[in-house]
Amino acid sequence: MGHKANNTLLLFSLFSLTLLVSLHQTRATKSHNVTPLKGRKELTKCNLFIGSWVIDPSHPLYNSSSCPFIDAQFDCQKFGRPDTQYLKYSWKPDSCALPRFDGMEFLNKWRGKKIMFVGDSLSLNMWESLSCMLHASLPNANTTFLRREALSTIIFQDYGVTIQLYRTPYLVDIVREQVGRVLTLDSIQAGNAWVGMDMLIFNSWHWWTHTGNSQGWDYIRDGPNLLKDMDRLDAFYKGMSTWAGWVDLNVDPTKTKLFFQAISPTHYQGQEWNQPKKSCSGELEPLAGSTYPAGLPPAANIVNRVLKNMKNPVYLLDITLLSQLRKDAHPSVYGVDHTGNDCSHWCLPGLPDTWNELLNAALIM
Ligand SMILES: *[C@@H]1O[C@H](CO)[C@@H](O)[C@H](O)[C@H]1NC(C)=O
Ligand SMILES: *[C@@H]1O[C@H](CO)[C@@H](O)[C@H](O)[C@H]1NC(C)=O
Repeated sequence: MGHKANNTLLLFSLFSLTLLVSLHQTRATKSHNVTPLKGRKELTKCNLFIGSWVIDPSHPLYNSSSCPFIDAQFDCQKFGRPDTQYLKYSWKPDSCALPRFDGMEFLNKWRGKKIMFVGDSLSLNMWESLSCMLHASLPNANTTFLRREALSTIIFQDYGVTIQLYRTPYLVDIVREQVGRVLTLDSIQAGNAWVGMDMLIFNSWHWWTHTGNSQGWDYIRDGPNLLKDMDRLDAFYKGMSTWAGWVDLNVDPTKTKLFFQAISPTHYQGQEWNQPKKSCSGELEPLAGSTYPAGLPPAANIVNRVLKNMKNPVYLLDITLLSQLRKDAHPSVYGVDHTGNDCSHWCLPGLPDTWNELLNAALIM
């Protein structure tokens, strides 16, 4: 008896619950336009770049062996890196969760559009990462892949989305003159190739520091002066200012989303994280917390200074600190030929995937 009554009660409760749920759904449908806005607002309040690294079973976002776009120099698993924990971290901003990357949503949003990364091999790193993330979401998508010295292209044909890489490590031009290769601080002819994009993601710095055999120029032209060398931070500031002037003159920010990929740190000097005998080699874990003992590299201040004085709003994808914490994320000796110790680029999958998750978050905001 009591049993039956209970059942009736239960049925009634279930009925009320169903009614409540459907009422709630009607409400939710009505306020449909409001709900996502609230989420967006929460993201806007959040500083995406202050947080810490956490182990997250949803990472890595792909396996390098199934991504057709990876350069050997980033494919650490293929070239024998024995540990895998570095693959499992995700970035957790202190005051919000990063939206999960959804390749189909990304491609639908950018349907028919052109995206271009412009800069050095850190741009290459990020370009290949984004392409692998998209490919992992849509493994059967038709793609075209053209890898060239100056301009490389991946097209997701079914969506008409073109993702290019324009290699120009200084952003300003290297001009071949009688005296040799001249780094011309006030010239940016290469910019003609960047016009008409729907999204531009720039980056430069590492090559400004190179000397000896890896230096990309023989002279610097600074206004009227032809110099054998100059202070590299001064040169970077002048080159960046030329770039900023080019962007302000040639890019319509209502048509083109503008990003600057902040300074990507290296880990050759263990004293920066209080381990003077070390480099990135053999590092298996990120630094805990959200401070890097050495502080920000001086080039980061230059980027901030230049962006602040621009007319066009350029979103600083401020990945410097969070990347400084990832001393474990470089190829080190697991590059193609096992001869070098690369503490400058990053393994794929790996850290650049986070840069792209942050790019994605910035676009959703
Ligand atoms: C990637 O896939 C290959 C081939 O299926 C597999 O052997 C390897 O363990 C995978 N790597 C990781 C890190 O899961
Ligand atoms: C790839 O292209 C072929 C030929 O145009 C088309 O039939 C197929 O549906 C495409 N694949 C996807 C996943 O869209």
